[in-house]
Amino acid sequence: MRAYTPETITDAVIEQMSTTPDPRMKEIMESAVRHLHAFAREVNLTPAEWIKGIEFMTKVGQMCTPARQEFILLSDTIGLSALVNIMHDKTKVEEATSASLLGPFFREQTPKFEPGAQIAKNAEGSELALFGRISSAKGEPLPGAQVTVWQTAADGRYDIQTDASTMDCRGVFTTDAEGRYLVRTVRPLGYYIPLDGPVGGMVQAQRRHGMRPAHIHFLISAPGYRELTTALYIAGDAHLEDDVVFGASGDLVAEIKEADPACPIASLPSVHFDFSLSRESVADKLTGRVGADPGQITAGDVAAEKPYGSPPPGLAAEAETKKGGILAGLFRGR
Ligand SMILES: [Fe+2]
Repeated sequence: MRAYTPETITDAVIEQMSTTPDPRMKEIMESAVRHLHAFAREVNLTPAEWIKGIEFMTKVGQMCTPARQEFILLSDTIGLSALVNIMHDKTKVEEATSASLLGPFFREQTPKFEPGAQIAKNAEGSELALFGRISSAKGEPLPGAQVTVWQTAADGRYDIQTDASTMDCRGVFTTDAEGRYLVRTVRPLGYYIPLDGPVGGMVQAQRRHGMRPAHIHFLISAPGYRELTTALYIAGDAHLEDDVVFGASGDLVAEIKEADPACPIASLPSVHFDFSLSRESVADKLTGRVGADPGQITAGDVAAEKPYGSPPPGLAAEAETKKGGILAGLFRGR
């Protein structure tokens, strides 16, 4: 019977997990265990700190609802979402507009609008036009491309934060024969990420400001092209350089022009931005987005029907055969 040491336990875990048939799961779990163990050794993690970490993750999970995704917020505020996004963006097969984070406020079933329609229910005093062209990486216009836009309302909050039962300041538009889009909206405001949960507690304990610069999210798709998840960041915002979720980047900064002669709605201040899409590769079909509709993630979160801890029937039978019934007996007792 071997005795584990801080140096040998990592390999013992990896050896036991080596039966994993899925090669990608095996690779990810082995690496996760190696890095987690190395982290615990590096900081000499104490039992009290370990349980505090578990309490924190438990609270993060408990804060999640169909309208709120605290785990995505955690991933965002420690830069993991941005890292995954940047790595993924480098795999596109053609040079095209950079990706940015989808974030925790995207919602499926966003309503469709005609070109030039106003997406904000209350647009008084701060109207803004967004216009431009969607093209391929080679500059060919993409007619019929789908452009989904979402942003904060005039009060600096997303609809889902105010009333999850309605949709506001979000819409799906379709490009015209020349690949053009036109959206009427309101000026987005910079905002605090939700600071009333465990992630907000972490951010405040770190004395970070918790602000995102003003931005407008875009999700753009056309058949045969990699879906573009991105956002435009409004020039002049004080937090372009220190976005709490590390999403803002220089090439996605857009200026609001008070009287752009190119704007199709002459009376409005406007943002002009042309987006280009890379061709879709086979691998792109499997990669997904960095973010999700919170409702989709929690959709399968139903109360367990089986007794707590009961193993799958096949595993119990196997345990009975292998261990002379000891384990199976334990399982039956639950
Ligand atoms: Fe946002």
